[in-house]
Amino acid sequence: MNAPTTFDALPRFATALKAIESLKPAEPLYLVHPEKFAAAAKQFLDGFPGDVLYALKANPHPIAVTHLWNAGIRHFDTASLGEIEIVKGLFPDATCHFMAPVRLPGQAKAAFENHGVTDFVVDSDAELDKLLAETGNPKKLRVFVRLVAQLGGALLEMSSKYGCGPPEAAKLLKRVRVAGAAPCLTFHVGSQCLSPFSYAQAIEIAQRTISLSGVEIAALDIGGGFPAAYSGQEPPPYHWYFDMIKEALASLGRPDLKVMCEPGRSLCAPGISLVAQVVLRRGDRLYMNDGIYGSFDEQRFVSFDEDYPPTAITLDAKGKAKALSGAPRPFRAFGPTCDSADKLPRPLLLPDSIANGDFILFDAMGAYTVSSRSPFNGYYPDSWAVIG
Ligand SMILES: Cc1ncc(COP(=O)(O)O)c(C=O)c1O
Repeated sequence: MNAPTTFDALPRFATALKAIESLKPAEPLYLVHPEKFAAAAKQFLDGFPGDVLYALKANPHPIAVTHLWNAGIRHFDTASLGEIEIVKGLFPDATCHFMAPVRLPGQAKAAFENHGVTDFVVDSDAELDKLLAETGNPKKLRVFVRLVAQLGGALLEMSSKYGCGPPEAAKLLKRVRVAGAAPCLTFHVGSQCLSPFSYAQAIEIAQRTISLSGVEIAALDIGGGFPAAYSGQEPPPYHWYFDMIKEALASLGRPDLKVMCEPGRSLCAPGISLVAQVVLRRGDRLYMNDGIYGSFDEQRFVSFDEDYPPTAITLDAKGKAKALSGAPRPFRAFGPTCDSADKLPRPLLLPDSIANGDFILFDAMGAYTVSSRSPFNGYYPDSWAVIG
């Protein structure tokens, strides 16, 4: 239908029902909710006691980035030169932070020299050596040593691939100081973290590392992990997280310490919903026009364990869109590709009357959906409309 880089040209509707009624989308349709992007950004900008970096990997589409920029986000956690180029191409005044602990050769140099990036992450001696050699001006750098924070409060852990324990991190902090760069710490408590207490535990690990090293850090980046409110799930409110983080930070006794966070999912999930169509119903099986090679890729990795109740929508005899009512029952949902693995891992709870040609509206589909869709088997969801 349309593959936008700006949203001025996108069709606009008052509601999702109106969009479905008018477009009768035969391909998956992303619905953008500008006010939800704005609300998510405001919560962080008002509530978090430091710089809020949007983690671009969650959704690098210009629509997501521009809405968050318009809502006041000016810092970006970028994990590759490609991501830095996306941000700088849209907003030359944005500040990018290169927060991947393992970088392809030459990327730190290009980020530093061409894009003014001065924040980098390391979790090994070899990457620190490479960073210092490529940038050649340590006094300009803030180097964040990534800690392991394997705390069990998140649905998707983020500490088995990157990070090091306090003794190794303490050594790296000392090396950063000796090199003349500003030593800093970072961690990621895991994505869709349902336990605010994980942040306090991770800040305690940071405190232990600081004590071991005897190094005064210049900044602490507490990573991402803040949960999105998916259908059927009610995570703790953000102010619990912010209060817990503020309390833990106060225990460091460093009111001057610069603090940052890197939310991805929580900033972009609410702002986009998805309309998929039921191509075929066979008993309790629904074959949809979108699946795990499209917008549902993340479902393969995150073990959401609660029921998933999206909204079923039908067009009546007059072509009017309305939500189907009736007691929900579980359906197995399959994507459009020929791969047997292309099925959603958890059942969808939908009214029994759902039929061929009906639509399914999934809320909070802005994170790790658009960013990881693939053109496998000739399918690639890329139709868009704005709601509101
Ligand atoms: C270093 C880093 N920061 C931030 C994020 C964003 O995490 P989330 O989407 O859970 O907020 C990620 C996710 O992979 C990450 O690897």
